[in-house]
Order: sequence, then C-alpha cells, then structure tokens
Amino acid sequence: MPFPVHRPRRLRATPELRNLVRETQLAPGDCIFPLFICPGEGVKREIGSMPGNYQMSIDVAAKECEQLLGLGVGGTILFGIPSAKDEDASGGYDDQGIVQQAIRAIKKTTPNLLVLTDVCNCEYTSHGHCGKIVDGDVDNDITLDWLTRSAVSHARAGADIVAPSDMMDGRVAAIRRGLDAAGFPKVPILSYAAKYASVFYGPFREAAESAPQFGDRRSYQMDPANARESMREIALDIEEGADMIMIKPAMPYLDIIRMARDRYDLPLAAYQVSGEFSMIMAAVRNGWLDHDRAILESLTSIRRAGADFILTYFAKDVARLL
Ligand code: PBG
Repeated sequence: MPFPVHRPRRLRATPELRNLVRETQLAPGDCIFPLFICPGEGVKREIGSMPGNYQMSIDVAAKECEQLLGLGVGGTILFGIPSAKDEDASGGYDDQGIVQQAIRAIKKTTPNLLVLTDVCNCEYTSHGHCGKIVDGDVDNDITLDWLTRSAVSHARAGADIVAPSDMMDGRVAAIRRGLDAAGFPKVPILSYAAKYASVFYGPFREAAESAPQFGDRRSYQMDPANARESMREIALDIEEGADMIMIKPAMPYLDIIRMARDRYDLPLAAYQVSGEFSMIMAAVRNGWLDHDRAILESLTSIRRAGADFILTYFAKDVARLL
C-alpha cells in the first residue's frame, strides 16, 4: 500500500532534510568563466547584449583573474579580439597574438588559476568563418594546420588546457600530434565534441566580433535536429585523443549531455552559452525571473543532466551564492 505509508514529502520538510538527500551539487570550482581579451590598456567595455560582461585589455583581465582565483572559480577560458584580422587568421597562431600575451600575463600574476584557451579561427579571420575559405566553403584540412599552430602557441605561452571549438574533422588528432611534437605531451585537449549550429551564440559574436560576414556555420557545426550524430562526433574525438569532451549549448541540449554521460566515461563539460545567459538576464531585467534562483536552477539542471563542469558567464555569481 503506497499511501499513506509512503509520503515523499517527509524528506522535503526542512532545509536540513533537503540538504541531506540532495542528489546534485553545484560548486564554484565546477564553473569556468569566459573572458574576452582586447588590445589596449585599462580597457573595460561592457558588451551590450551580455550585461556584466566586458571586453578587457590584458592588464584588466589579469586583475579579473586575481578575483576569480579568490572566489574559487574553476578557471577561465580566453577569447581574443585581435587589433587586425586577415584571410588566414594569422593573429590566432602568432606567438605575439592577443591571447598568447594574455596567457603569459595571467600566468605571471595568478599561476594557480586554470587557463583554458578556445582554439578557433573565427575571431581572427576577416570573413568571420572558422577556417580557410576555398570555393565559398571552409576547407577542412588547411584549417587543421592553423588550429594546430594556435594550440601549440597557446601551450607555449602557458595555457593549461586547449579547447578546439571549430568542428573541423580530424582536429583533435592533428592538435594532439602537434602538441606532442612541440614538447607539450602533458597539455590536455578539451574537445567541443558536439557543437551545434546554434542561434544562441548571437551575443558572443557581438562580444568577440566574430560574426560570419557571409553565409553561416552549418557546413561545419552540427544540425540541432541530430542526437545520434553527436555520439559519433564524441566517439571520433575520443579515438583521436581528446582528454575531455564538451557539449554546446547546454540547456537546449540536456538530452545530449545525458546521452554522453551514459555512454562515455571521460570528464564531460557543457557550455552555457551567451544566448542562454542573455535570455535569463533579459527576463531578470524585466522582473520576470528571480536572478539568483534562475542561475542556480539552470546550472544545477546542467549538472544533473550529467555535466561535470560548466563554462558559464554566471561563474562569479555561483561563487557569491554558494
Ligand atoms: C568560436 C566560439 C563560439 C563560441 C565559443 N567559441 C562562437 C561560434 O561558434 O560562433 C560561442 C560561445 C557563446 O555563445 O557563449 N567558434
């Protein structure tokens, strides 16, 4: 006889009981905070569609990293806004590039803060696509060379983890080979294994000034309608040597996070992307959602779906709230 013997409400009666039986924990150390690095000094420019997020010059970003370390945030991931862009994304794999300089500065002041780098070309190409354009489309194999050179230069500058986000075929193998040959066998690869061609990257493209100047990214990023295909993408990246895998975006793709968690044992990340952040903030600003609860519930849901850690623009809020 289930009722009245069984009363699930018994375990919800007090905060202490709820605490005891809570299945999913969220901690600041599970959260990685993205930073947008721009040229100059003393620059801190708010991104219109991402309130509370800024394009920062290296000196300002280094200060920000001291704060992140103090808050116990899990780390930062760096995106670069170079002073000049060209057809061949040369700013992306230049040892004097904006991200490479930022890594060195941050590692000098906060050596213990984990520094991840996004390995991609879209912020560095004049056309905003993630690789070399040949006959109107991104050429896969030429792009692999740029990505490998970027990852190696990030490692040389002191990056702790490199995270390719371009969705070219074979990039994990190419980057692993390049890192090993350059003397960086210990630098892990966090692969954006299942990255969807998503509308939710819109605000990021304003932040990173990386919107494609023609067409879209559907010939390389995944079709939002496909789930099984993401398992194949992950399997290939694992075979190629990925140390960790990522699903992106997060909230609209919780089913993919769960499938990946059930199927693979590698550490699993999810990226709560700019559009997810902006949607929540827009509702908060209208008085339609409670800020703190929306943050904690959205991130707890991503952890519950199976993500071990989360790239999120709310990382500092999590540290403040928990
Ligand atoms: C680079 C990259 C993008 C994001 C992370 N790395 C943009 C894109 O693919 O267009 C999006 C992150 C976000 O929206 O917060 N390719």
